[in-house]
Amino acid sequence: MNLLEDNQSTDLETLVRENSTGLTRRGFISAGALCGAAMFLGGNLLSRSVMAASVSAGNNTLLGFDSIPSATADSISLPPGYRSSVLISWGQPLHANAPAFDASGKGTAKAQELQFGDNNDGMSLFTFPGDSADTAKRALMAINNEYTNYRYLFDHGKEPQSAEDVHKAQASEGVSVIEVKREGGQWTFVQGSKYNRRIHGNTPIHLSGPAAGHEWLKTSADKTGRNVLGTFQNCANGKTPWGTYLTCEENFTDCFGSSDPAQTFDPAAKRYGVVAASKEVNWHPHDPRFDLAKNPNEFNRHGWVVEIDPFDPTSTPVKRTALGRFKHENAALTETKDGRVVVYMGDDERGEFIYKFISRDKVNHKNPKANRDLLDHGTLYVAQFDNGDSNADHPKGQGKWIELTHGKNGIDASSGFANQAEVLIHARLAASVVKATRMDRPEWIVVSPKDGQVYCTLTNNVKRGEEGQPVGGPNPRAKNQYGQILRWQETGSDAASMAFAWDLFVVAGNPGVHAGTPQGGSSNITPQNMFNSPDGLGFDKAGRLWILTDGDSTNAGDFAGMGNNQMLCADPQSGEIRRFMVGPVGCEVTGISFAPDQKALFVGIQHPGENGGSTFPEHLPNGKPRSSVMVITREDGGVIGA
Ligand code: FEO
Ligand code: CA
Ligand code: CA
Repeated sequence: MNLLEDNQSTDLETLVRENSTGLTRRGFISAGALCGAAMFLGGNLLSRSVMAASVSAGNNTLLGFDSIPSATADSISLPPGYRSSVLISWGQPLHANAPAFDASGKGTAKAQELQFGDNNDGMSLFTFPGDSADTAKRALMAINNEYTNYRYLFDHGKEPQSAEDVHKAQASEGVSVIEVKREGGQWTFVQGSKYNRRIHGNTPIHLSGPAAGHEWLKTSADKTGRNVLGTFQNCANGKTPWGTYLTCEENFTDCFGSSDPAQTFDPAAKRYGVVAASKEVNWHPHDPRFDLAKNPNEFNRHGWVVEIDPFDPTSTPVKRTALGRFKHENAALTETKDGRVVVYMGDDERGEFIYKFISRDKVNHKNPKANRDLLDHGTLYVAQFDNGDSNADHPKGQGKWIELTHGKNGIDASSGFANQAEVLIHARLAASVVKATRMDRPEWIVVSPKDGQVYCTLTNNVKRGEEGQPVGGPNPRAKNQYGQILRWQETGSDAASMAFAWDLFVVAGNPGVHAGTPQGGSSNITPQNMFNSPDGLGFDKAGRLWILTDGDSTNAGDFAGMGNNQMLCADPQSGEIRRFMVGPVGCEVTGISFAPDQKALFVGIQHPGENGGSTFPEHLPNGKPRSSVMVITREDGGVIGA
């Protein structure tokens, strides 16, 4: 979901100066890699045209395809030898006798509860226990449905006009669990599988962890503060080592409003962005649960990471409060050297933070069910970055993690926190107390399977300077319309570390419009691979870094030549980036997963034709565009990207 106008106004003094010497390149450059060597020397010794030549020469051993041109067509573009097909689209019935998709917009809420949700986003694939990766012929996929587009959801094309409309909108969001199967190298959706399931805006869900049962989570409908209805605005995802799915609640604030236009809000509520007038969602006039004048605490029961067992269609999802409450983008999991689970998380709003959770207990790899409550006990930290060096092409520096525990680091009654539950419910405020670094909208985070380095997209922040957020370090632009990808290596390559070294893997820009860094992009940006607003990220098994964009697709002005939103692929060692796919008109490319044998790539096309102009993917006359999960395969059946 593109949020160029996020609300954020809190002022913070953030920067600390620590030891910024002694940072090595940490494998940024592979021996003998031409363009890598150019970046090692500051990026000024090799012209962009030579960089471009290296892209088209196909001489990178990790990236086995040539960069494709940008495009503005209402279709998918791929390198020669690749093809795409639709796995599933918004409205497709999940069950044998469920109602078919109704393009008229007159379909009911009940029908939508039995159909694939709208605006698919983050997703994970789960092989069945015992199946080998190379031969698996079936799997489950859990797929987020982030939000809906009223223009297409309703026949009237406007915001909800009734309780039934609101119910339908809530049914279009959440998560879809589906079975998929492989036949002759092609993965397809299995309609009618007993695993197929919708979790949506009215599904019963438990709250667990330190904040569960707190006064602020109790409502007239739930006096325990432990049982909530629904998950919605489910952005991206995580996959645990014990085979469960994590779905992340992002723009939940937008779903709340007040029937009292004069209602005022305390600083905490304001920090989370509430306003009496619901921005565009407009649920509160027809569903009192979302009316802040009637149910002020319902708001606190959303904004969490939710754990789902895809293999048990009867299981109740669980909101894990130990991971903190904010506008969660995704959850990137790894393990410490001593076997505890680590979850990296970004809060996607201008000037908000990057977090890390470390579990108290170790992961039990022999007995997955023993990890059922692992995410309920642990410690939450927030990142603080130094200003680093002044190399505009490749900024780098040091950072540290600061604990968000009641009674530590000034987080106590003196700063307005009575206990740990309050710290977690108001994680943003606690992170401000410890002077965390205000970032350029942290989106996805991923951990390299090769060296444990962590990558995070900072998608854009056009108001950094205007809002008084400090300019520098990993956020080097006062008006950041293109975004950058941040990377860090934990000290000792241990995710348990409290310190790290950071650098910017790429600073996106437009070298066709702006000369030099930063607006022209870092030296690994060329006219052949330029993009804006990096958002989704994914690593494949071989260590290729896939980059998905949610940016300005006008193809004009500062964005001229960039075309529609796209997916690129990077070599983390050399820094080289090639454009792999371009999406249809008006879409965002988001959500990525791989078949176990790496011979199929699942990628999400979200909100094609967001403002009209698309009939993707069916291209029926006067047809509606439908968000879809695509399957990318090679005509020769080979590994994607190789
Ligand atoms: Fe749902 Fe921040 O993207
Ligand atoms: Ca985005
Ligand atoms: Ca996103």
